[in-house]
Amino acid sequence: MTTASKVEFGDFQTPLALAREVSSLLVAQGVEADSVFEPTCGVGAFLVAAAEAFPKARLLGWDINGDYVRQAEAALAQAGAAKRAKVGQQDFFARDWGRELSGIRGGLLVLGNLPWVTNAAVAGVNGTNLPAKENFLGFRGIEARTGKSNFDISEWMLISLVKALRGRSATIAMLCKTATARKVLRFAWQNDGRIAKASLHLIDAKRHFGASVDACLLVARTGEAGPAEVDVFNGLAARRRSSTVGLAGQDLVSDIRAYRRLKHLEGLCPYQWRSGVKHDCASVMELSRTSAGTLRNKLGEEVRVEPDYLFPLLKCSDLANGRLEPQRFVLVTQRRVGEDTAAIAAKAPLTWRYLDSHRALFEARRSSIYSGRAPFALFGIGDYSFAQWKVAVSGLHRTPRFALVGPVNGRPVLFDDTCYFLPFEEQCEARVVAAILNSPECQSFLASLTFVDSKRPITVELLQRLNIRAVAEDAGLADQWSACRNRGVRYSEQPSSTQAEFVMEAPTS
Ligand SMILES: C[S@@+](CC[C@H](N)C(=O)[O-])C[C@H]1O[C@@H](n2cnc3c(N)ncnc32)[C@H](O)[C@@H]1O
Repeated sequence: MTTASKVEFGDFQTPLALAREVSSLLVAQGVEADSVFEPTCGVGAFLVAAAEAFPKARLLGWDINGDYVRQAEAALAQAGAAKRAKVGQQDFFARDWGRELSGIRGGLLVLGNLPWVTNAAVAGVNGTNLPAKENFLGFRGIEARTGKSNFDISEWMLISLVKALRGRSATIAMLCKTATARKVLRFAWQNDGRIAKASLHLIDAKRHFGASVDACLLVARTGEAGPAEVDVFNGLAARRRSSTVGLAGQDLVSDIRAYRRLKHLEGLCPYQWRSGVKHDCASVMELSRTSAGTLRNKLGEEVRVEPDYLFPLLKCSDLANGRLEPQRFVLVTQRRVGEDTAAIAAKAPLTWRYLDSHRALFEARRSSIYSGRAPFALFGIGDYSFAQWKVAVSGLHRTPRFALVGPVNGRPVLFDDTCYFLPFEEQCEARVVAAILNSPECQSFLASLTFVDSKRPITVELLQRLNIRAVAEDAGLADQWSACRNRGVRYSEQPSSTQAEFVMEAPTS
């Protein structure tokens, strides 16, 4: 199989030992299966393991790959289960599974491991292994452009199976990315998908599949609607849950019990969180100081520019690791989104010449947000970017560490777009807010909301949910906060629509 078709078909065959472990867990949980249905059975590991675990069950398997179908048949024959098995070649997307599954009588177990690939990755190898209707879960054009409509093929398939089983008592047991399992459950809970009970059992995907991704076995009993909660177990052998993920309003939270205890800390943040500056041209825009005191870009070129447009820069790893003395600089070509950049030529001719000599790199920026904009345009920029004092946090690190950042040599420090921050005029207010955000109360509340396996655990939407007053009260910092509050009013206006749109680009879990 070529790499491209391995990608297109999300082809990670389950080792037999893992399939057996999963089947044993299901037996231990009391699952009764008269029929086992494997919708993308591959070479048949799950069918063989199910043949052993459920010795009387009928075994039904399908796969798009004819070679795999033959191998699965051979494996079942060798396991002595050929007579009760039926395996066939079938494209998952080309069958009405609702009708198929409603025709199966008795206890039904839908078991297996669906393709591990996103629609974007299939498109990236010019593949066609996609559902006919790509407009999935109501995503719109803007979300498609910003990547929000990127979804896992297995998510689409699992949701089809949940829909196909709606109201029918069955067990779904599928290996998948943990993020996919959560999305499927959220869909079911929000759309009357009738999941009576569910659990997530984490697996080591690196060990079993060589894939660096958080993955799990999702077990869901269908038929009746149950609570919108799912217990998480740290492994297939774990008998005690480690946490309970649940739906709080419209959002999933990672620890529903802790969330309920701390939900008085939720509300409207009185400050407006901002994203760092976005330029998508780091090789030209980000400079570092050489030992000789000159500036160098990421292309290795020595750079001569005036100081006017140059600002100290911190990145997410700096914030997360407490490295708060900036070692880098960023060229900031605009003071607000949409500002004309032509003035740079007269005011700072060296800077203009430098930017202009790399114009092709700016014009090749992939994101459509730059098209039709001034040359060397930025996003995530405004008055707030130039505030002297800031409280900033990495969006990409699991434990939010809020850093108090002041000016360097009189110049405000900027952040890149992996960071979020609050701008302040006065050090005193920034210092207290950083203490409030770093308090154990705030950290526990954020931990109850965030998923450590998401690409961007911290988002503007999440930070905007912090009721700073309530957190300050719990942390014993309310008086200090009141004493220096409201000095940052200048920066507290609501974001422009451009900033809001830009913020939407943050991937969600
Ligand atoms: C992650 S592998 C898992 C295989 C098997 N379920 C197992 O656990 O070993 C995904 C399987 O999905 C199959 N597949 C991919 N796209 C499919 C489609 N549209 N219809 C049916 N099978 C498909 C692949 O051929 C591959 O065998």
